[in-house]
Amino acid sequence: MDHIMLPITCIVLAAGKGTRMRSGLPKVMHRIAGRPLVGHVLASVAAAGATQAALVVGPEMDDVAVEAGLAGVPCRVAVQCDRLGTAHAASIGLSALSDGQGTVIVLFGDTPLVRAKTINELAMSIREGAKLVVLGFEAIDPAGYGRILQGSDGRVLAIREDKDASPEEKQISLCNSGVMAFDSDALRTLLPQIGTNNAKGEYYLTDAVGLAVSLGWSVEAKICAEEEVLGINNRVELSRAEAILQARLREAAMIAGATLVAPETVFFSTDTKLGQDVLVEPHVVFGPGVTVRDRAVIHSFSHIEGAVVGEGAAIGPFARLRPGTDLGEKARVGNFVEIKNSRVAQGAKINHLTYVGDTRIGAGSNIGAGTITCNYDGFDKFTTEIGAGVFIGSNSALVAPVSIGDGAYVGTGSVITEDVPANALALGRGRQVSKLGWATAFRDKKKSAKTAKPAAK
Ligand code: UD1
Ligand code: MG
Repeated sequence: MDHIMLPITCIVLAAGKGTRMRSGLPKVMHRIAGRPLVGHVLASVAAAGATQAALVVGPEMDDVAVEAGLAGVPCRVAVQCDRLGTAHAASIGLSALSDGQGTVIVLFGDTPLVRAKTINELAMSIREGAKLVVLGFEAIDPAGYGRILQGSDGRVLAIREDKDASPEEKQISLCNSGVMAFDSDALRTLLPQIGTNNAKGEYYLTDAVGLAVSLGWSVEAKICAEEEVLGINNRVELSRAEAILQARLREAAMIAGATLVAPETVFFSTDTKLGQDVLVEPHVVFGPGVTVRDRAVIHSFSHIEGAVVGEGAAIGPFARLRPGTDLGEKARVGNFVEIKNSRVAQGAKINHLTYVGDTRIGAGSNIGAGTITCNYDGFDKFTTEIGAGVFIGSNSALVAPVSIGDGAYVGTGSVITEDVPANALALGRGRQVSKLGWATAFRDKKKSAKTAKPAAK
């Protein structure tokens, strides 16, 4: 087989509890940019073109295991019942894979910012003949990390875990990121030789380096920026990773042709899709599952998730689009409007202070200020159908299930409980009464009562 074609297998270790998160959730299920940490690692693994993967989880981590199914690469789940160390976890992952030939890359589920390109570079070194490649970085503060020990000629000799390092070794700033690439046969040879003779009494995967060197094998270190291999152990680090990832996503959105007026105030999910010439004003949040088509404008302070904003549409300021919202071309959604699970056709307008839920609105309809679709009776949800070219007067309540025919008008302040035929005017409100001269008579009566009484103190 041509060595360039050797497949890449990845093993993602995620069995740790992550006690420093102080959380009921496994550490790797905490999210950045809307996706769990482990999901980011698996996405990079898939983007790197890995042919298969194994995800090593702890017992009772069913939610973590679900991520394997979303990985975009065939991914086996392996359970590590006793957390005996990273080498032990790696061997459990390896044995879950029927045939891990070629390159095997071990990654940590709590190191979410690793790029696909970096994974590929490690695999390339293995293809070019290295038995083992360690991804290292220069740490600003190396405390806690395993240090990469090098000979005077710069060759990698071993990794020393922080707890086992001598005072001199602790001075070394070149650290192990945790990402390691192996020739698969070399990994199978090395794993059974790793012992537990260290401060924590664990099977350290990092011991593979010293063992490989003692066998005379070539071990390399690739260096990347510290921010790419930030490991997350607590919520401060989680927020740092979020910041780094948001910076990447903002830059990618702008390079792809969207204008972000104040990029540092816009928050994306990993799957946010912005078309060309989209304009995003300051302070906008994109939750998961948003597509914004070409030339749409997102005004300030809008919050969008699970929604499509059509070509040339405009929303906000202060619009809230919830999951299932689908805005057609040139639709307009204004301030303090909330829309959920609704389709709004081309050119329809919902400009002020409105709730639209479980509704279909036809093209060119105008929904007046303060309209409420009453879609819920405390038990079930009901749908509202609004045709094309409909005009709903302000402050109307449309009590679902109900339909408003094409071209109909609903009078302001109506409570609509029955279907409205096309082109009809529906009024569902008290009839106005004007009593002529009533106000004058009322004022005169009040004034004369006041002059009759002694002034209050
Ligand atoms: C590890 C590395 C260290 C490196 C650092 C980078 C080892 C021995 N040390 O240390 O050299 O500088 O990461 O962040 O590898 N895990 C399991 N099963 C286990 C133990 C761990 O799945 O039995 C998983 C954890 O969920 C985590 C990863 O392996 O995703 C790393 O474990 P952790 O305990 O965080 O290792 P560190 O002490 O940070
Ligand atoms: Mg760690």
